[in-house]
Amino acid sequence: MKNIVILISGRGSNMEAIVRACASEGWDARVAAVVSNRPDAPGLAFAQERGIATAVVDHTLFADRDAFDAELARVVGEFSPDVIVLAGFMRILTPAFVSRFERRILNVHPSLLPAFTGLHTHRRAIEAGCKLAGATVHFVTPELDHGPIIIQAVVPVLPGDTEATLSARILAREHQIYPRAVRWVVEGVLREDAGVVVHTGGESQLVL
Ligand code: GAR
Repeated sequence: MKNIVILISGRGSNMEAIVRACASEGWDARVAAVVSNRPDAPGLAFAQERGIATAVVDHTLFADRDAFDAELARVVGEFSPDVIVLAGFMRILTPAFVSRFERRILNVHPSLLPAFTGLHTHRRAIEAGCKLAGATVHFVTPELDHGPIIIQAVVPVLPGDTEATLSARILAREHQIYPRAVRWVVEGVLREDAGVVVHTGGESQLVL
């Protein structure tokens, strides 16, 4: 039984999707804990209602990023994570944290990486006149919003789209692809070849 630890900063809808899929699809894994850097993250309540352990490591209480990450690593480490899932976790992790849990950290980002790393991805895609947008699940490396791509989902950018309409369309896809990616890692069916992640069973890593 693998241990999944999910890190959130806010709403936690991706966390919910993963918790539900883990239970309903009978993964050989359990969500061991949900950890937030914000004490008021709405997602914490969902985890608590489900009987999942929760913890808060409030980044505002630490002098610098290194100190915060050291405590975050200690707290996360207590749950012996096989997989660490960043689900709307809006903190940049230090190389020390990433290397301690190398190839065990996943992130979802609301763009078709490597386009639009960072913030305001939906607005930037609309302003650039993109006709396609989407979401990416990738392994985390020290470089922000980079790292080997596990799965991507593509959606159209429609005339008249706003940040709100486009982000809602993409979020629905995130809820599809993120549980799938975490399940693949739990099952150990991914292989990496020169930075390219391949599903060894041939399942599609693209959702159109
Ligand atoms: C999601 O859209 C996720 O892709 C994004 O934050 C949102 C969190 O929603 N993450 C990033 O932008 C990370 N760079 P959620 O809390 O409802 O899962």
